Amino acid sequence: MSTKVAVVTGGNKGIGFAIVRALCKQYKGDVYLTARDVGRGQAAVESLASEGLKALFHQLDINDLNSISSSAAFFKEKYGGVDVLINNAGIAFKVADTTPFAIQAKVTLETNFFATRDMLTHFLPLIKAGGRVVNVSSFVSCRALSQCSPALQQRFRSEDITEGELVGLMERFVNEAQKGEHKEGGWPDTAYGVSKLGLTVTSRYKPGGF
Ligand SMILES: NC(=O)c1ccc[n+]([C@@H]2O[C@H](COP(=O)([O-])OP(=O)(O)OC[C@H]3O[C@@H](n4cnc5c(N)ncnc54)[C@H](OP(=O)(O)O)[C@@H]3O)[C@@H](O)[C@H]2O)c1
Repeated sequence: MSTKVAVVTGGNKGIGFAIVRALCKQYKGDVYLTARDVGRGQAAVESLASEGLKALFHQLDINDLNSISSSAAFFKEKYGGVDVLINNAGIAFKVADTTPFAIQAKVTLETNFFATRDMLTHFLPLIKAGGRVVNVSSFVSCRALSQCSPALQQRFRSEDITEGELVGLMERFVNEAQKGEHKEGGWPDTAYGVSKLGLTVTSRYKPGGF
């Protein structure tokens, strides 16, 4: 039987690093700590090695389509696919950050929603039978949902929302935030919350509906 493989994005620190550590202890297969920065990723792998744990490293920046596609090609070539994918990489502006909301909305959605969706587009075809994909969202997505207009809530909660419609809604949020009109558009004042709401709805798609 071929070697099983688990891949964690944003594995060099925080929750991603903790997931890699736990997988190294429990998973019967190769565990890849991926990170956008080679130095930070390799330092994290070395830190695990000092605990007696063996993680492998691969560079993966989810905001870079070339990095996503070359990583997907690597796992297909070496393992014939992927058994476990943890989409953990994400960003959040600090509450005290004074970066204009328009920029926070664009940057946050780019990573947490659009780049994670790019990961799914490239990696879902590689997931082996019985495999698992975990998207690390947030309870904040539920709060953001409850603060959306009734019309938006109806679409996000619906069983028949399509990928195209969801992408269109996320683009609409970014566009309205650029113009300072997102509140009139029925959106809450949280870019992080909307980005994770998009990810949670993505994770609800039924096979065949996505
Ligand atoms: N902390 C919480 O309370 C909490 C609660 C709910 C959900 N979450 C979610 O859990 C996940 C991890 O959060 P955390 O608290 O561990 O955050 P963190 O400590 O800031 O770690 C985030 C990780 O994501 C990586 N990352 C960011 N952009 C990336 C990109 N374009 N490509 C690849 N990696 C990228 C970071 O890499 P660099 O080191 O290179 O920046 C880092 O390794 C996120 O999705 C977050 O939204 C966190």
